Formats: sequence, C-alpha cells, structure tokens
Amino acid sequence: MNNLKGKVAIVTGASKGIGAGIARALASSGAAVAVNYATDKAGAEGVVEAIRSAGGTAIAVQGDVAKAQDVQRLFAEIVKTLGTPNVLVNNAGVFQFEPIDAVTEETFHWQFNTNILGPVLLTQEALKAFPASGGSIVNIGTVISNNPFANASIYAATKAAMDAISISLSKELGARNIRVNTVAPGHTETEGTRRIGFVGSDAARQMVSQTPLGGRFGSPDDIAPTVVFLASDDAAWLTGERICASGGWR
Ligand SMILES: NC(=O)c1ccc[n+]([C@@H]2O[C@H](COP(=O)([O-])OP(=O)(O)OC[C@H]3O[C@@H](n4cnc5c(N)ncnc54)[C@H](OP(=O)(O)O)[C@@H]3O)[C@@H](O)[C@H]2O)c1
Repeated sequence: MNNLKGKVAIVTGASKGIGAGIARALASSGAAVAVNYATDKAGAEGVVEAIRSAGGTAIAVQGDVAKAQDVQRLFAEIVKTLGTPNVLVNNAGVFQFEPIDAVTEETFHWQFNTNILGPVLLTQEALKAFPASGGSIVNIGTVISNNPFANASIYAATKAAMDAISISLSKELGARNIRVNTVAPGHTETEGTRRIGFVGSDAARQMVSQTPLGGRFGSPDDIAPTVVFLASDDAAWLTGERICASGGWR
C-alpha cells in the first residue's frame, strides 16, 4: 500500500510497543517516519533498521515529549532530515495503576506531563511545521478513559483529558485543514503492560474474557492500521473522532 506516499510522520514513543507498530505500519504505507524515543536508543534504532530493510524511510530522534526544548529540537531535526511533517502521532505515554492513597505528586505529574503536556507541546510545534495544506494529528487514548477500572484514576484522567483536548482541537484547527482524531486501544500486550504486571493480572483476565472479538490481548499490529487510515487522505472528512481499537471491549 502506498497511500501515505509523500507524507512525513512523527510517532512519539516509537522505540517499542504500540508506537513501534504504528511507525512500521506508516512506513510500509509509504510515509517517511521519525521514530521518537526517550531512553531506549537501541529499541528506536531497531525499528528504524526494520523499516529501512523493508525499503522504507525512517530516522530515530531522541526527545522527552514533556520538555519543550527537546520537542523543538525534535522538530528541527525532522524538518532538516525528512522535510516538512504533515502527520503527528502522539503515542508516547506512561501508566501507573495504583490505589488513590498511593498516588504521589511525582506519579501524578509524571503521568500528566508525559500524557498531556507532551501532546500539547508536540501539537504546538506541529502547528508551526505543518504545511499550509494541513495535516493529520492522531492522539493515542485508551478505552478506559470513559470506562475506567479501579486503581487507574490518574492514568484514566490523563486520557480523558486527551479525549477532550482532541475534540476541542478538531474544532480549533479545522479551518487550517488539520484533522485531530483519537485512537483508543484496548488491552494490548506491550513491553509497558508486561513491565507493570498487567499482562496476567486479574483486571486483564477480566478484560480479555469480556472482549467480543477473540477473547485475547490485542497486539500493536491490531492498533496500527486504524492510525494509518486516520493519517491518510481516505480519512479527509474525519475529525474529532474517537475510534476504539479494542476487539469490541468498551
Ligand atoms: N498497552 C496497552 O494496553 C494500552 C492500552 C491503551 C492505551 N495505551 C497507550 O498506548 C501508548 C503506548 O503504550 P505502550 O503499551 O506501547 O507503552 P510502552 O510499551 O511502555 O512504550 C512506551 C513508549 O513511550 C515512550 N516514552 C515514555 N515516556 C516518554 C517521554 N517522556 N518522551 C518520549 N517518549 C516517551 C517510551 O520511550 P523509551 O522506551 O525510549 O523510554 C516507549 O517508546 C500510551 O500512550 C498508552 O497510554 C496502551
């Protein structure tokens, strides 16, 4: 498929997990892709290598999404190396599931800074860098933003804020032909969900048992095609949408 030929895409948090799957899928549809990472240089370089060996174009770019200077540098590197970006996927995100009395200022700000301040900073830079013809912003939310389970209050709140920001921005940026949509994954097996012990947990087992399609965990490859669609001109008349990629769990 070449429906993203000529597009330049930035995927934040693409060194592993869902972001890596999205970066690979955008590249295999023809986009040149900037694979952003915070700490995992080897992971990001592995994703770039996989894309290049499949005939695609990609670069790895370090940057903490929650730091304005990093985000500005990231865009400068992308413009210089790949050209004018017109697709932004705000995927980088962190999650900590814990009871409310365990929440600290540190875990609160870590999740809000990464999951909300990050996409805000990226969007601000994208508005400066996108061409006059417009572009596509895809924010990665979660199915639990409107159906949170216990011990997920802060994480779910960050993603509910993301849902609200996406709708507001879709109205604010429509006149510039910049579309803003959200993809809300369900339970997806990634390095992140394995690291926190979610894979194999009671909450996960319950979600899996209630998943209409397949009764299984999703994989990054289940999420990526929806992002490719929203990034493409096939979705030219869609903005402010929230699509659940969750096997029907909601
Ligand atoms: N997995 C699920 O079940 C699930 C479900 C719904 C929604 N989501 C959402 O999907 C997204 C990806 O989740 P995942 O499970 O793939 O996570 P993951 O496996 O933990 O990967 C997280 C990615 O985000 C990057 N990252 C973290 N903090 C960053 C920062 N400050 N600046 C730049 N990059 C940063 C990491 O970079 P480094 O490795 O380089 O540090 C890594 O590439 C998140 O927004 C998450 O909330 C996940």
